Amino acid sequence: MITFSATNPEGGDDTKNLDLSSAKRAVEEIRSDPMAGWLPAPINRIELDKIKTLAKRVNDNSDYLVCIGIGGSYLGHKAIIDALEPTSKTKILYAGNNLSQKSLDKVLDEIEGKDFSINVISKSGTTLEPSLAFEALKAKLKERYKYDDRIRSRIFATTDARHGALHDEAEEMGYETFIVPDNIGGRYSVLTAVGLFPLAVAGVNIDALLDGARKEKGEFFENFAKNSNVPSELPALSYATLRQRYHGKYHDVEVLAVFEPELQTFEEWWKQLFGESEGKGGKGIFPASVVYTTDLHSLGQYLQDGRRNIMETFLKFPLEGYNEIAEKATIAAHKTGKIPVFEIEVKNLDAENLGRLIYFFELACAVSAKIQGANPFDQPGVELYKQNIKSML
Ligand code: PA5
Repeated sequence: MITFSATNPEGGDDTKNLDLSSAKRAVEEIRSDPMAGWLPAPINRIELDKIKTLAKRVNDNSDYLVCIGIGGSYLGHKAIIDALEPTSKTKILYAGNNLSQKSLDKVLDEIEGKDFSINVISKSGTTLEPSLAFEALKAKLKERYKYDDRIRSRIFATTDARHGALHDEAEEMGYETFIVPDNIGGRYSVLTAVGLFPLAVAGVNIDALLDGARKEKGEFFENFAKNSNVPSELPALSYATLRQRYHGKYHDVEVLAVFEPELQTFEEWWKQLFGESEGKGGKGIFPASVVYTTDLHSLGQYLQDGRRNIMETFLKFPLEGYNEIAEKATIAAHKTGKIPVFEIEVKNLDAENLGRLIYFFELACAVSAKIQGANPFDQPGVELYKQNIKSML
């Protein structure tokens, strides 16, 4: 289980006498929410076998897999790949997560003359950034494989089971498809085919990843069912409760801190998860991130001594040498600086523990948003930007 501890600005244990009742009510609400398909951490065995078989095909015939997608359609799997740096014959590249021609050209240059496949990932199937990148990558496939049947077998579409432009095109053209379940939104989808297919191609042990998530879920619901009130037995609820308690006072920024640069993309995934789930109705904790010790020499000053509206969450894995000492020193300094400090700790930086962490954060995020009174599963602000850009075009 994930270990969670919290220290208040006075240096006391913040989990003491913690009232978890509103978090527990939130769990009940989430259980009956039509968008909580990720909560049981389901595994679709048939889909999993298909993912593994097709990943092997890509490993056999491709130097590169270009993953096209934005937001929840790419951050989760990129976070895990960057954190674990798996070695696979097939290198993963990313496109369609911005509108920069330079970024796209870099990808197109890198795959020039190489064997490659495409995984286009979009639940709606209509998002502008991935749609444009997909057109460019398809053109590259046609140039490389000269319009023959091999083009079709190199495109993998991960999208809605029934609707959307991508779904329709995949059906018409006969691409291999994976489903984004109806009841799971983008930022909660990393443990579906959205994340699992690129991860399998990259050589991540997806069984261990899923196993970790299921273990975290199993332990959580066991303690939940026996109506535990022990904060260490319900760490996600403790974290959610304390975040919202500080939010209700003065703290409207949460900084996630890591000491491994490889975890920077994981922080990006975390920011999207919390930012899109909670930033609503004029409320929400602004999620920010730092990579130490690098950022101790830029944002460190502000954290230590600036406006006291920040809470800080340290994501802890076993570290070595100077880095381990730096982590201890920083946590102690920031506690002295009267920052509320949360510590979230797992035993190792591996697939199983990342699976645990993903489940932990998804649960904590949904609970925290519910306590705040927000719908954790919509993103009306993102939709508005999408509509505006379409009408301007
Ligand atoms: O969490 C979400 O739902 C969003 O961030 C989406 O993942 C993002 O907007 C991309 O949408 P789509 O997968 O429909 O292209």
